[in-house]
Amino acid sequence: MHKDVESILISEEKLENIVRKLARQIEADYQGREFIMVGLLKGSIVFMAELMTKIDLDFEIDFMVASSYGGGTESSGKVRVLKDLEIDPKGKDILIVEDIVDSGNTLNFVMNHLISNGANDVKVCTLCDKPGRRKVPLVPDYCGAEIPDEFIVGFGLDYDEKYRNLPYIGILKRSVYE
Ligand code: IMP
Ligand code: MG
Repeated sequence: MHKDVESILISEEKLENIVRKLARQIEADYQGREFIMVGLLKGSIVFMAELMTKIDLDFEIDFMVASSYGGGTESSGKVRVLKDLEIDPKGKDILIVEDIVDSGNTLNFVMNHLISNGANDVKVCTLCDKPGRRKVPLVPDYCGAEIPDEFIVGFGLDYDEKYRNLPYIGILKRSVYE
């Protein structure tokens, strides 16, 4: 275990089961439909890579970068699109893949952005959810795990751009950011 990690919240084995279960749900729901899987960079990369290889359907992928965090552990509430889709979302069904929903500000903004650009349908698949911290009403359509109000890292999730490479999800030691 990494020296900055307090404890492991979701092990590699559990992550694999979570991803497989989400893939089965998405496969069932999107059978026979055209859709674009849109990953929010950078946090979703590990999750999306694992998820997409387990979905036995034809779909396109694209990425967006939206930022609401400075360097800290709290959302600033002001979301900006730093990189937009390359594919035109007009009339398309979109499945956003996210690492974690916290205040909901980021996804709320990104969903509205896609809908105002003409997307037909926008759904959300998140690996983790902290429902207790929501500031805007947002319920993910697919959720891997609900987690307590702790700052977590690994499997794509970072603190200050570090720890994304950890193969598990761990609770970051408070001494690292306090
Ligand atoms: P929201 O806009 O407050 O919902 O924040 C969502 C974004 O904040 C996620 O995409 C993550 O990048 C980041 N985030 C929120 N909680 C955590 C956490 O516990 N660990 C790492 N990143 C987090
Ligand atoms: Mg993120």
